[in-house]
Amino acid sequence: MQKHWKTRLIHSDARIPEGFRSLNSPVYRASTTVFPDVAAVTDEWDVYEVGYTYGLYGTPTVLELAARICELEDGYRTLITPGGQSAISLINLAFLKAGDHVLVPESVYGPNRSFANRVLRKFGVEVAYYKPLIGLDVEAHIRPNTKLIWCESPGSITMEVQEVPAITAAAHAHNVLVVLDNTWSAGVLFDALAHGVNITMQALTKYVGGHSDLLLGSVTVKDPKLWEQLGATQQVVGTAASPDDCSLALRGLKTMAVRLRAIEESAKKIALWLCERPEIERVLHPALESCPGHQFWARDFSGSSGVFSIVFRPEFSKPQVQAFVNTLELFKIGYSWGGVTSLAVAYDFADWTSRPAYGHRIVRLNIGLEETSDLVADLENALSTMVQAGRAR
Ligand SMILES: Cc1ncc(COP(=O)(O)O)c(C=O)c1O
Repeated sequence: MQKHWKTRLIHSDARIPEGFRSLNSPVYRASTTVFPDVAAVTDEWDVYEVGYTYGLYGTPTVLELAARICELEDGYRTLITPGGQSAISLINLAFLKAGDHVLVPESVYGPNRSFANRVLRKFGVEVAYYKPLIGLDVEAHIRPNTKLIWCESPGSITMEVQEVPAITAAAHAHNVLVVLDNTWSAGVLFDALAHGVNITMQALTKYVGGHSDLLLGSVTVKDPKLWEQLGATQQVVGTAASPDDCSLALRGLKTMAVRLRAIEESAKKIALWLCERPEIERVLHPALESCPGHQFWARDFSGSSGVFSIVFRPEFSKPQVQAFVNTLELFKIGYSWGGVTSLAVAYDFADWTSRPAYGHRIVRLNIGLEETSDLVADLENALSTMVQAGRAR
């Protein structure tokens, strides 16, 4: 067919050499995916069953990331979402309905709690919280309408390591599903599905992305029935992940083992150094005995990552703790973690009855890839500024 140049802009006959082979996965961006004929047209979502039908259900770049996470977590299928929080909300929407009851640990990531309080309750789901270290005793909280138990291990900021195998045993005895936020272990330092978890999710934003420049999440399941429920929900919720971000995450995966190893080593050295400091009451690092649930970390995990918290001694005021964080130079102040830059964020649990009584004295650290001795020097300088700030008052 003869084509006007304007048509050629869209339908070109230009050809390039074939046979290109690179070590990197191409970025396939698409909303439309083309069908060969009318009979093939379908809006089914399960790409593994019907092939590619629409960009929302994943392009090959998105599916490659999904397949790689699934392989690492030894699941049946993985779904990629536009962020860790959208993975959390998708799981809730897929597995809960009005009249159901969900159990959430008090140590859960803040926006997970907010979704339960603000959205699930609005749609008639009963939400109850449980103490993260409860283990088998979670059984006493299970009701006839309990459908889902959330776990997050270690918990956000207060770092309680949960006895996940005991929780899954109790849950399964009552036909209740267990979902774990496995972000801290990057999906590799704790084998969630082998420990009885039914649904495991991660914010790939953290260690998989690894460079603080993308937002992505994953949900992995072992049971094909759960996959059906999850995929059908994603289709109507419409949480499509960006292939460009997935390509960055695929790149992040290649270096994740060496980053994690370096971060683990540095974080442990820094945590041990902080244990010896007179200003610090407690170091909440899962690999140390001072962390609640350390014994479960020692039994169930194959390593530790780089996020942990410190609790200052009671004599330190809130302005002093703030002075500590403000004085840090290498540690930047900012949310999220798992990147190469060290971070520090001060929290205040003074108004919380359901969290340990650390009040304003808790600071969460994310250890990055800077030289450990420089990070220690930065912390040492900030600690002495904090002490001086107290004297000056
Ligand atoms: C434990 C945990 N889960 C989930 C998320 C949410 O991930 P995202 O920031 O990708 O939405 C975060 C983010 O800080 C987190 O710390």
